[in-house]
Amino acid sequence: MKVLVTGGAGYIGSVTSEVLLNRGYEVAVFDNLSQGHRAAVPADAEWVQGDLASPQKIREAIDQHRPDAVMHFAARSLVGESMDAPFAYLRDNVMNGLNLLDACVSGGVERFILSSTANLFGAPASAVIDEQAPIAPGSPYGESKWALERALHWLSQTKGLRFASLRYFNAAGASEARGEHHTPETHLIPLVLQVAAGHREHITIFGDDYDTPDGTCIRDYIHVLDLADAHVLALQALEQGNRVYNLGNGEGFSVRQVIETARAVTGAAITERVGQRRAGDPARLVASSYRIRDELGWAPQFPALEQIIDSAWRWQQRHPEGYIDRALHK
Ligand SMILES: NC(=O)c1ccc[n+]([C@@H]2O[C@H](COP(=O)([O-])OP(=O)(O)OC[C@H]3O[C@@H](n4cnc5c(N)ncnc54)[C@H](O)[C@@H]3O)[C@@H](O)[C@H]2O)c1
Repeated sequence: MKVLVTGGAGYIGSVTSEVLLNRGYEVAVFDNLSQGHRAAVPADAEWVQGDLASPQKIREAIDQHRPDAVMHFAARSLVGESMDAPFAYLRDNVMNGLNLLDACVSGGVERFILSSTANLFGAPASAVIDEQAPIAPGSPYGESKWALERALHWLSQTKGLRFASLRYFNAAGASEARGEHHTPETHLIPLVLQVAAGHREHITIFGDDYDTPDGTCIRDYIHVLDLADAHVLALQALEQGNRVYNLGNGEGFSVRQVIETARAVTGAAITERVGQRRAGDPARLVASSYRIRDELGWAPQFPALEQIIDSAWRWQQRHPEGYIDRALHK
């Protein structure tokens, strides 16, 4: 089976491409390199440099590569940026996704997996968020993913497209060969590790007066390899119907726990500063992944925070400059 991976030069898309290839799938990557890295694309994947803003380019890619399924990772994905630049999300993320869906439907692609997000649940009422939680996107970014979830619903009804929406919480960690390299980096674990490596002076904790045991926000970190595994399982399960899953570890870790664990893993002091709360940051965001565990037998292989941080640290140690100027082997 062949999978077209949009955003396969990015963090989660490149690791998922690696996992797909290891499991015998053929992979074609479609990416405009606005955020990703050519060196992150596995050598065995076919490569198309293209922008989803171009309906023609994506139609050509589908005609040329004839994928059986599409995994759609390519998007802008910064919550804060989406509050400052809503049209880049409400227009571009949605239009790009619709261009892709249009090309899939007219090109005969019957299976589609969307990278959705926990940001669908902007201000959750319950401590652990399952698929029944009310949808109330926390930003234009979350809204753009919700619009694509709705498009999938209707294309399934009208055109028979089979889909899975996977609502990730915080992806983290690395495979042996591929890790997280964003510019700018906004995610906690790579930022903390940049402090450990001496590339950054300190880590800022955005508020330590939340109603949590140590006062800092609690988030759910899922190892990127466990996420990739969930994509493969969801793809296989599409034969039995559409899928919507919340995807996290099911365990929450506070910002202070992340910093403490990073100190233990790296042996570095890691200076911290306490700053103001950020607008719209809920105290606690933890996934219930009960549905995917129950229906597909998915279980995280790397649930411990130490394992997640250790894999990210080892990748960072091996690749201090990330993907810059580096040819990557498979
Ligand atoms: N990283 C997380 O914790 C997280 C959490 C929830 C959801 N997600 C979603 O998962 C997906 C992947 O996240 P990531 O962290 O790997 O992001 P990433 O930025 O590392 O990867 C996205 C890739 O898409 C490419 N891209 C962006 N716009 C494009 C366009 N118009 N045409 C072609 N390619 C384009 C970028 O160059 C990049 O390689 C995103 O859709 C994101 O919203 C991520």
